[in-house]
Amino acid sequence: MRTGILGVGKYLPESVLTNADLERMVDTTDEWITTRTGIKERRIAAQTEATSDMAVKAARMALDRAGLSPSDIDLIIVATITPDMFFPSTACVVQDKLGAHGTPAFDIAVACSGYIYGLAIADQFIKGGLYRNALVIAAEKLSSVTDWEDRSTCVLFGDGAGAAVLGPVEEGGILGVNLGADGSKGELLQLPAGGSRMPASIKTVENKLHTIKMEGNVLFKHAVKMMSDAAKGVTEPLGLKADDIDIIIPHQANVRILNAVAKKMGVDPDEKVYLNISKYGNMSAASSAVALTEAVEEGRISKGTKVLMDAFGGGLTWGALVIEWS
Ligand code: UT7
Repeated sequence: MRTGILGVGKYLPESVLTNADLERMVDTTDEWITTRTGIKERRIAAQTEATSDMAVKAARMALDRAGLSPSDIDLIIVATITPDMFFPSTACVVQDKLGAHGTPAFDIAVACSGYIYGLAIADQFIKGGLYRNALVIAAEKLSSVTDWEDRSTCVLFGDGAGAAVLGPVEEGGILGVNLGADGSKGELLQLPAGGSRMPASIKTVENKLHTIKMEGNVLFKHAVKMMSDAAKGVTEPLGLKADDIDIIIPHQANVRILNAVAKKMGVDPDEKVYLNISKYGNMSAASSAVALTEAVEEGRISKGTKVLMDAFGGGLTWGALVIEWS
């Protein structure tokens, strides 16, 4: 028995922030953002819309498509670095909103690799026989932790949520997983204040330490290497070559990173790498979740398709997973 994905869902906030809008906010151009990142626009959640609100909408869609109701779910995992609050966890908020009372629920803070970590955790619980069906949601409101005066970061991020319902399948399913982390490089991408190391104060607010700090060009090189290595680390033990993979669903941080990873893997990015970064920017964990959902919606994934998911992000963390669609 293997674990399969029984249904996928997504939610993107209505409000669209274009590169032209950003040209009016910071010293940037559509040309710079497009050529350096591949992003044209991103979605921004309403002020009243928290991460759990987006997560619930994505979850409901995934449940509908799986033909299951919240009472059928035995486990809820939410991957997020922008929880509604420190605690209770966003997963508990989501559990309540779905009416899945009693179901175990917890968050994981794995930044951009969170969806793959979440799928991997759920896979273990299902294969181990403790639970039958799990709901894995990746949801982020990065606009709430973005410094809107810092052109080096504010052009990159967006808000959104993606979800999957997992359960046992007789054919296909998750074939392999490869997760990793390197905490020694954590300072390259962080949100410094608000935790026990640097509790919130007037000074932390004045110094904008509650927003994302990123050393983009250093991260770029790590991203290419770590995503390539992560992919290799899951495909090689399965005896899979690049040709055996039908589609790659990567974390969408930068189209240039993805082209470089594809080149290292020896695949044609136009043919095999799924991209939606132009519409949504980098939504951290939600990026690969929404990308998977849209690839299914567009018919790029159907029964028998071998999908490689591949992500890299804050921590630093990375994760890759191969699933044969059921
Ligand atoms: O989600 C997972 C973790 N994140 C990543 O993996 C992100 C990885 N990094 C990247 O995607 C890229 O490094 C960025 C898109 C963040 C930046 O692209 P880059 O080609 O590495 O640019 P850079 O940081 O080296 O900056 C080049 C120039 C600088 O000007 P000078 O020093 O050459 O005069 C920046 O000040 O571009 C300037 N710049 C901008 N110019 C116009 C930085 N941001 C902007 C901007 N508009 N928005």
